Amino acid sequence: MQAFHIRPGGNATSLVLADAPRRPLGPNAVRVRIHAAGLNYRDLMLAWGQYPVGHDGPVIPLADGAGEVIETGAAVTRFKAGDRVVNTYFPDWIDGAASPANTAASPGASIDGVLAEEAVFHEAALAVIPEHLDWAEAATLSCAGITAWNALFVAGRLKPGGTALMLGTGGVSVWALQLAKAAGARTVITSSDDGKLARTRQLGAGDTINYRTTPEWQDEVQRRTGGADVVVEVGGHGTLQRSIAASRMGGHIAVIGGVSGFSSDLNLLPLIAGAKRLSGIFVGSRTMFDDLLRFVALHRLRPVVDQAFAFGDAPAAYARLEGGGHFGKIVVDVSRR
Ligand SMILES: NC(=O)c1ccc[n+]([C@@H]2O[C@H](COP(=O)([O-])OP(=O)(O)OC[C@H]3O[C@@H](n4cnc5c(N)ncnc54)[C@H](OP(=O)(O)O)[C@@H]3O)[C@@H](O)[C@H]2O)c1
Repeated sequence: MQAFHIRPGGNATSLVLADAPRRPLGPNAVRVRIHAAGLNYRDLMLAWGQYPVGHDGPVIPLADGAGEVIETGAAVTRFKAGDRVVNTYFPDWIDGAASPANTAASPGASIDGVLAEEAVFHEAALAVIPEHLDWAEAATLSCAGITAWNALFVAGRLKPGGTALMLGTGGVSVWALQLAKAAGARTVITSSDDGKLARTRQLGAGDTINYRTTPEWQDEVQRRTGGADVVVEVGGHGTLQRSIAASRMGGHIAVIGGVSGFSSDLNLLPLIAGAKRLSGIFVGSRTMFDDLLRFVALHRLRPVVDQAFAFGDAPAAYARLEGGGHFGKIVVDVSRR
């Protein structure tokens, strides 16, 4: 089978397509023909040498795979050949709290990922794809989809009628917009681009704010809504203090990412005097994933795929993500050459 490999810190120019050995199948393992693989900001960080992977050798990149079961180990009970499946981001985090042990392995980083014609997973690390989703749409679930779900409904405890604030129109934020909207929440989303904001309104966004032309966007969120119950905080350095200010008293800031940098000089007083909650989000467990998939199936949600690149054009998919012009998720259509 063929697979891409990337060298951590070697930039996307170190992506190489080559033959790779087929992994042997253990008793509880499932071999999946990958049809689509989704990109995440993490994959850029790995390429830039900013993501700790625990080794410095080449790895098959990308965590989000969608494909078809082609072979099962002798003891597998959850899947059969032909099933349409998607893998979890943390194969060892099934339920309960995150721990160093159950978050150590992650495809496309510490272990081989899914930018390959085939991948092998433990059966516990797979779930059935909702029927209405195509391969590319399904390849947006494993990281961005579950992270948005965890931030809003698990850590954030968002309720129908509550207000969710999303920053920017990248993969996590657009997923969060769709989930929050479907759950009956009031939604506010920011972007640097009015055209992208128009697209969020087509998805049902309630309030939209351009964070370039309204640099004090947190005041605008307060003025319009009285403060967000949950903030999907993906900006980091340039946005965290404002996200705290944009939330209501007792509100929750789900700290997810750092597209503007991962360091922070935080003034703690607004957090303390606002009785606000700040929590780190680390993707999610398979139980959360199962809940997400049931919700997506019930509401027939279709995630936004910005562009699907042919397998051989995977480096162009990285370039699209790095350029920041995208809206929603970028995917590699592995079955298209
Ligand atoms: N903790 C976790 O479990 C977890 C999981 C997934 C992702 N993440 C992290 O979350 C972040 C987002 O990931 P992603 O995959 O959604 O990335 P992405 O698709 O690359 O999103 C990038 C978008 O962020 C927006 N942005 C950039 N600078 C901004 C700023 N100063 N203020 C507000 N928005 C800004 C831009 O939106 P506009 O073009 O609309 O301005 C840009 O398109 C990354 O840091 C990633 O590492 C963490």
